[in-house]
Amino acid sequence: MRKVGIVGVGEYLPQRVLTNADLEKLVDTSDEWITTRTGIKERRLASGDEAVSDLAINAAKEALANAHLNPEELDLIIIATITPDMQFPSVASIVQNALSAKTAVAFDISAACAGFVYALSIAQQFIGLGTYKIALVVGAEKLSSVTDWQDRNTCVLFGDGAGACILKEVKSGGIISTYLGCDGSKLELLNLPAGGSRLPASHETVNARQHFLKMQGNELFKIAVKTMTDAAEKVLKQAGLKFSDVDLIIPHQANSRIIMAVGKRLGLSEDKIFLNIEKYGNMSSASTATALVEAVKEGRVKKGDIVLLDSFGAGLVWGACVIKW
Ligand code: UT7
Repeated sequence: MRKVGIVGVGEYLPQRVLTNADLEKLVDTSDEWITTRTGIKERRLASGDEAVSDLAINAAKEALANAHLNPEELDLIIIATITPDMQFPSVASIVQNALSAKTAVAFDISAACAGFVYALSIAQQFIGLGTYKIALVVGAEKLSSVTDWQDRNTCVLFGDGAGACILKEVKSGGIISTYLGCDGSKLELLNLPAGGSRLPASHETVNARQHFLKMQGNELFKIAVKTMTDAAEKVLKQAGLKFSDVDLIIPHQANSRIIMAVGKRLGLSEDKIFLNIEKYGNMSSASTATALVEAVKEGRVKKGDIVLLDSFGAGLVWGACVIKW
């Protein structure tokens, strides 16, 4: 297998900021509750005429510029999303056309909050085997479009955004190991019931608010801590490394208490844990993606560093990845 590395990163966060104070006017909540229980202070919301592809295209353009590559050089585009523009065609087809990446194969994957790490792993296989040379991987979500703004249990948690990276063969470093997992026995903990072939859209589904995501947060919280800890241990063992070798862990940003509990179990000091949940909330596949992008932009990831991505979400699915930068 060829060595595969990330050679460019980009992100796009919509302009509109929704603060905890704004949410206090919508539902029975408080800045104090949201901050202490989740670590979130504000999140971004896409505008009415912005779809997920628009967020993805902007992030992709920045990543291409950062990698000094033209869209025509891409031969693979993978978009991780659970909030596509429409059921079909894929967001990836829309992005391929918008970028004029005419020769790129393009498809979406649905792996919720682990989607970005799943997509990285798929791209790594294709490039590693020599099937394709240059890949664009994007985690993009418009969760505000599936959020029930009357449900205080969920509406304070989510936001919109996109993070992108360009992958290609590298001489040294790159992705050392990936570890993916799924437990399909707990679908009820986080899902969006209607709008698919099980419950097509009808007046009844709309009236029953079944086109909004439903979550049993408390149960998910405990599983998230355990699963993300386990995934980090497994992927690091596969890489032949120890936690003392890790320079920065970049976890999925669902809840700062989950992240800190995982960090504690792994014996990582707080300065080795990347957090941006305060600004954006949980953006599902876009969370790990933008966290990686911002860690790079902020200089928290330097050449030669060992970076550990760790994600978990609806499915249940999880994915971890060790990269030598
Ligand atoms: O990204 C995919 C993976 N996602 C996750 O892993 C999410 C995991 N779950 C969580 O992050 C947390 O469970 C939540 C942030 C969703 C909830 O925090 P919690 O500490 O587990 O709270 P809870 O659900 O046990 O609720 C505690 C109380 C309840 O009131 P009672 O029953 O004790 O009177 C809720 O009704 O907090 C209440 N509550 C709120 N109060 C003010 C729930 N939401 C709110 C709110 N504002 N927004």
